[in-house]
Amino acid sequence: MEKPVITISPALPSEIPRLASIFTAAFATDAHTQLKAVAHPSHNQERGMTEGLEYWISSAKKCVVIKATIDHDIVGWTTWGWHGFDLGLPEEWKATYVQDTPPNASVVIGEEKNAHSTDSQPAGIKRLKEITNADMEAWENRFMPNQSTECMILAAIAVHPDWQGKGVGSRLINWGLTKAHKRGVFTWVSSSDGGWGAFEKAGFEYVGELRLDLDEFSDGIKREDGRPWGEYVWRYGKIQPKQ
Ligand SMILES: CC(C)(COP(=O)(O)OP(=O)(O)OC[C@H]1O[C@@H](n2cnc3c(N)ncnc32)[C@H](O)[C@@H]1OP(=O)(O)O)[C@@H](O)C(=O)NCCC(=O)NCCS
Repeated sequence: MEKPVITISPALPSEIPRLASIFTAAFATDAHTQLKAVAHPSHNQERGMTEGLEYWISSAKKCVVIKATIDHDIVGWTTWGWHGFDLGLPEEWKATYVQDTPPNASVVIGEEKNAHSTDSQPAGIKRLKEITNADMEAWENRFMPNQSTECMILAAIAVHPDWQGKGVGSRLINWGLTKAHKRGVFTWVSSSDGGWGAFEKAGFEYVGELRLDLDEFSDGIKREDGRPWGEYVWRYGKIQPKQ
């Protein structure tokens, strides 16, 4: 079968609803996402990601949201961040962005930062978010101990399920890796359970993980089909700069 022609370009603010809906579709089968949706229905994941995307798209000094298009249809996107240096995007790309967040703000969006109605969330979900956020923060500090640590960060990626397995994710990942190699800096990622295969293929080396039994955080809420939520693994990966 012929490979589709994939075009890469910066995402526009007007495209945020499409990007957020791709994210929702891409994570529809992710157990961690499903648990949060079932146990805490007032937490709207798509609205949370809309805010995340607005934040990234207004942070031109530290990250860029890139979209992949096939036949003028957006099929996937990624957020690439950088730290300790200025990636130096083309001027026409910067024009997409309207403002800028403080230079020391993080491109890594912890769940609490974009979560609504933390007040009403069940105890198990609250505890789960505290653990995952704390783990992410610890890794952020490990990867980037100083303001001057130079690296690239793959902060988010989602490909619409209809277009997965066709090379879209690789194109989005390689866009940033090429920049990192050119600059001679390392790259790191925090991967969802299902995303790791693609990152490993792209060359990320496993450096650690957070492994949790989601049933311990479900407050007894079962999946629709009665299966346990099961174990979920967040993996952290790193690619050293090419010599
Ligand atoms: C992860 C994701 C972005 C990959 O995008 P994609 O367009 O499907 O990836 P590609 O088609 O470019 O595949 C890249 C390579 O990884 C491999 N790969 C992809 N997913 C894999 C998996 N789960 N296990 C093993 N290998 C996998 C592919 O076979 C391919 O290898 P190849 O180059 O040898 O053919 C996409 O599957 C997705 O959106 N997943 C759901 C959301 C998610 O988990 N995102 C990660 C958040 S951190």
